Amino acid sequence: TKKKCIHDLYKMKENGEKACWIVVYDSVFASYAEEAGVDMILCGDSMGMIVYGWPGTVPVTMDMSIAHCQGVRRGAPNTYLIGDMPFGSYHKSCEDAVANAIRFYKEADVDAIKLEGGVAVADKIRAIVNAGMVVFGHIGLTPQSSASMGGFKAQGRTTDSARAVIEDAVAVYKAGVRTLLLEGVPEEVCAYIHKMLPIPVYGIGAGADCDGQVLLSADLLGMYRNFTPKFAKKFADIGDIATQGMIDYVKEVKDGVFPAPEHKYKLSGGAAEFEKL
Ligand code: KIV
Ligand code: NA
Repeated sequence: TKKKCIHDLYKMKENGEKACWIVVYDSVFASYAEEAGVDMILCGDSMGMIVYGWPGTVPVTMDMSIAHCQGVRRGAPNTYLIGDMPFGSYHKSCEDAVANAIRFYKEADVDAIKLEGGVAVADKIRAIVNAGMVVFGHIGLTPQSSASMGGFKAQGRTTDSARAVIEDAVAVYKAGVRTLLLEGVPEEVCAYIHKMLPIPVYGIGAGADCDGQVLLSADLLGMYRNFTPKFAKKFADIGDIATQGMIDYVKEVKDGVFPAPEHKYKLSGGAAEFEKL
């Protein structure tokens, strides 16, 4: 199938077809996602937790993000790919934000970049958009600012907080985002923003009243066992399968069962060859 472009995402919204993204960080899982027919792949900065084992996403760097994004692109050459701008890569100045967004395009062949924040980063969004790139917004629960939110907490659950999320949605829309991701907000807040904005609105932990869903491969496949958010449904249990496979491998090596004859190379001249050694 032909790789989607931003217009295809708008057409899907128009036709009421839900879009589905998956977050992956490497070439192998990217190839699974492409084979599964996902509409979009996000190489998320959640790699900081899933791949690198940090408690959050703050330490992720541009170089790490680019390297993983390149691997994902090689594994999924025909899928719409979104690069996730890491903490610090778009906060210092508009010039810096544009330069780092350009790196995703030039070095990792992305179709869009995503960055977190609302009113506070609207000028950075505008600068990147003005440079000709596609920006996906991301508001609500924004993991990069978990320190100021007091942890990974759902947002918009009170009238004041919901109002702030809606203000952020308006700000990033006016700044030029082409789609908006809402994370960790009540379904009513998502529904309100979905109705209010003409662009595709996607959700993760934001209910069903929007244009599509995102999940981390690590959550939907049961790979990450430190923590499972309320909104993550487990569609498979790779963690258990992988652990059991390793248990079996260790046991077979210790018992002398593996490697078996079919896993061994033979001397090309048979036993006679061995005599010449
Ligand atoms: O990094 C990530 O995985 C994300 C998702 C929560 C959408 O930004
Ligand atoms: Na992210």
